[in-house]
Amino acid sequence: MPSLFESTNLAGMTLRNRLMRSATWERMADGQGRLTPRLERTLLDIAEGGAALIFPGYAFVTAQEQPNPGMLGIYDDACVPDLERLTEGVHQRGAAIGLQLAYGGSFTNYRPEGRLIWGPSAVPHPATEVVPQPMSLGDIQSLVEAFALAAGRAQRAGFDCVQMHSSHGYLLSQFLSPYFNRREDAYGGSLENRCRIHREILAAIRRETGHSYPVLIKINSADHMPGGLSAAESLEACRILDGLGIDGIEISGGVRTKDPDTYFVKPHILKPERQSYYRPYAEAVARAVKAPVILVGGNRDARMLQQMLDTTAIAYFSLSRTLISEPDLVNRWRDDSAHQPRCRSCNQCFDPAGHICVLDRKAAQKA
Ligand SMILES: Cc1cc2nc3c(=O)[nH]c(=O)nc-3n(C[C@H](O)[C@H](O)[C@H](O)COP(=O)(O)O)c2cc1C
Repeated sequence: MPSLFESTNLAGMTLRNRLMRSATWERMADGQGRLTPRLERTLLDIAEGGAALIFPGYAFVTAQEQPNPGMLGIYDDACVPDLERLTEGVHQRGAAIGLQLAYGGSFTNYRPEGRLIWGPSAVPHPATEVVPQPMSLGDIQSLVEAFALAAGRAQRAGFDCVQMHSSHGYLLSQFLSPYFNRREDAYGGSLENRCRIHREILAAIRRETGHSYPVLIKINSADHMPGGLSAAESLEACRILDGLGIDGIEISGGVRTKDPDTYFVKPHILKPERQSYYRPYAEAVARAVKAPVILVGGNRDARMLQQMLDTTAIAYFSLSRTLISEPDLVNRWRDDSAHQPRCRSCNQCFDPAGHICVLDRKAAQKA
């Protein structure tokens, strides 16, 4: 029987357990997307706290495009030296570290005026109402190249893998989605076509990094909004990516709209029936593909996760808000599987001064 705390090998990475830190924008990098001492400390604390594979917050791959402030950048070779120090620090603490590569697109409120924002088609984003500029074939090729160069930099900086961010209504997930992608060329229409940019990015990354360097993807199980990517199509996209040799598939879901139910950072995840909220989708993908499947979203109970390991083909679980609140949650679960996370999923961790658990913010204000 697989165990939550056994060591495994994921595409050549030795992982000390089956718990990961899902990419989580910390809002702590500087104006150029460089590592700051606070961001470094935050990530090292998570490494000390027991997580097996740590994804810092999504990193922007072109200098011109950054969907949110305080994100890490991987758009230039000058980003590499600081990140090298980070990866070394994480490795010294027994964890592996990967980098999530992102192009944001129209899911942004950050300086949307006056900068170029690409999208598959000129469809207003349902939450931000930003209308992107439809990408020309040349734009697509230059973005594919930007992802590949970013992956090469991540590899040189010592990251053990990269992850393509194709969730949550950011650009790559928009290409998959019939709501956002209304193209009539080779990148729109059929699911094969809507997946073409993923295929090209994967091939370009492999060319840049070599074939043994692990490339994972975080993908929407469905957009969970009218007209968006369906669960059946997402499953098919996972099959296509699996056939191309993707090394791991993290299952999330949802697009931010004006309807709170479509949001992927679901609040008030306390009762067991609200936990691990994309489980049925991850179970179906795990049955259909060879690549290891990682489930994210509302994982709150180590005993439930072990039970999923026992009864499904899901191989790993990733955590976001609980590690903002308790960076050492994984070690606590190792020592006591009944430990209840401190995180109440109140979503008050979003803070312009750097994301922090509301309990810690209140304690700091009192001190
Ligand atoms: C503050 C914050 C920042 C996030 N940043 C990212 C990100 O950079 N990339 C990403 O794929 N998901 C991001 N997410 C989503 C989480 O990775 C995760 O999918 C979601 O919070 C559900 O997991 P949880 O219940 O463990 O928090 C973020 C979530 C939060 C709360």
